[in-house]
This record gives sequence, C-alpha cells and structure tokens, in this order.
Amino acid sequence: MTSQSEMARWTRRHLLALEDLSTAEIVRILDVAAGFKQRAAQGEPKSSELRGCVVANLFFEPSTRTRTSFSLAAKRLSADTVDFTASGSSLSKGETFIDTALTIQSMGVDLMVVRHKMPGAPLLLSRHLKCNVLNAGDGTHEHPTQGLLDLFTIREHRGAIQGLTVTLVGDILHSRVARSNIWGLKKLGARVIVCGPATLIPPRITDLGVEVSHDLDEVLEVTDVVNLLRVQFERQRGAFFPSIAEYAHLFGMNGARVRRAKKDVLILAPGPINRGVEITPDVADGEHSVILDQVTNGLFIRMACLSLLHEATTKV
Ligand code: CP
Repeated sequence: MTSQSEMARWTRRHLLALEDLSTAEIVRILDVAAGFKQRAAQGEPKSSELRGCVVANLFFEPSTRTRTSFSLAAKRLSADTVDFTASGSSLSKGETFIDTALTIQSMGVDLMVVRHKMPGAPLLLSRHLKCNVLNAGDGTHEHPTQGLLDLFTIREHRGAIQGLTVTLVGDILHSRVARSNIWGLKKLGARVIVCGPATLIPPRITDLGVEVSHDLDEVLEVTDVVNLLRVQFERQRGAFFPSIAEYAHLFGMNGARVRRAKKDVLILAPGPINRGVEITPDVADGEHSVILDQVTNGLFIRMACLSLLHEATTKV
C-alpha cells in the first residue's frame, strides 16, 4: 500500500463541486478519510496538520451536521476556528457578501467553509479570496462533502461502489445532495436511478447519465442503496404534489417497502430527516439505516478535505 507521503502532492486549492473532481481525487479523499477514521479508532483522534492555521465557517443558511462537523474536524487537526452566522452580522447594515468574506479573511484565515443559498457563491469567493474555499452547500447546486461522506459510507458497508445500483428518492429538483451524489456515484461506477414525482425531477437529468423512475416499488427490487432526500419545502415555489400524505404513501420508505427490498439494502438520508414524510421512524432507526454512520463519517471526510486543501498551499 502506498503511504500518504509517497502519493502525488494534492494541488487543488478549493473544493467547490464533485463535478470538478477526477475519480482519482475522489478516491484519494475517501482513503485519507479512512486513515483518519482508523487512527481515531486506535485512540489517536487528533493530529497537528493544521496547527497554526485558522479555519472560518461562514454559514448564511442553517446547518446542524455540516457546520458542527467542519468545526470539530478543524479542531481535530489542531486549527483555530472562527464561526460566522449571517443573523446578527453587519450584513444587515448593507455590507456585501464579498466584503464580509474579505473582512473575515483579513483576520488571518487560511481555509474558509461556506454555505449559501445562492448556487455559485463559494466559486465567487474562490475568485476573490486568497484562502482555500470549501463549499458546504450552495443553493440547489452541490454539497460536495455530503456527496463524499455518502460515498464513504456506501464503500465502508459494501466494500466498493462499482456495480451497485443506487436510487436517489425525492426532491431531486431542489437537491444539491442529489447533484453531488450523481457526480460522485457515476465517477465511481454506480448505476444511478432518480425516483420521485415528475414535478420534482429536473428536465434533462438523464444528460447526467442517470435513469428516471416515478415508481419506487418498481425500482426497489434492483436497488442496493436507497438515499432518501428531504422534500425541500423552503426552496419550493408552488405546490409540487397534492399532499404530504400522498407523497409519503408513494415515495416514503416504510417497513413494508424495506421488506420488499433486497435483504441487504442500505438506507441513507443526508438529514435533516422528516420522520413520517420521506422515512418512517421504524426505518430511520432500523437495521438497514446508516444515517448516523453518515454523520460519523462526515467528520473524517471533512478532516480529509481540510487536510488535503491545506497541502495544496504548503511549501514542500
Ligand atoms: N446534510 C446536511 O447538510 O445537514 P445540515 O443542513 O444540518 O448541515
């Protein structure tokens, strides 16, 4: 096995989208994350790789999982951390998004983690800032670290991604997680099916190499992994289905559907989950669910991303 020091130096300064990454780069991130997870299991949860660095979390949208795990990941790598939230900031006095980011960068920030409702906001910052930029979710565009932790969790449970059939269920139209999953899963050789009401499937999604279904029961029998995407009511303008009860009846994962699925089906959800809508409580807490494993793995994926991006800016 090739050691980390023997590998080619990581050169990408920003993590903006899984669309940008090569298959080799994705595998490298997963492998580095696996190393961090292994060392944590051996009683070494901390490393000094980012000692002296400052990681800033800029969240312009709510978050539980991503913000907390980026913050802990930075601490585990011995970085100092700064947390910014839009509410209560000088944005309310007319300061622009870029001026806010430049202001925070001026405090000596080395890596900036950004979540924003506008697709492309992290890309914009990467063009104006000197520090490394990591996309923590930009509108309906991408959520690359979520895609990576989903890949990591599937690989951990199934050994490989190549050859698996993964069905993404739900609000594909508004989901940045769907887009990151599609790019990552396709690059690693999975067959991807997107499943949901016709109103929540984007036109031309098949251009990304995925298949479309509007019948969850039909695709379940060929599915190895189900990823249940939340209905993003906060991004919807208008009604996309008649009622939540009808959505849950047609597209919700419940005990009866699990019993009809493959016996080793893996059930993922990026969270936050809406119990009783896309997933019933017995399934969310059941033996096929790896939802909390995803959260655990998110920490190691974010450690890997921070560590590799930092490597791109350090002198040899
Ligand atoms: N999955 C995810 O991005 O969760 P948060 O919105 O809580 O960060």
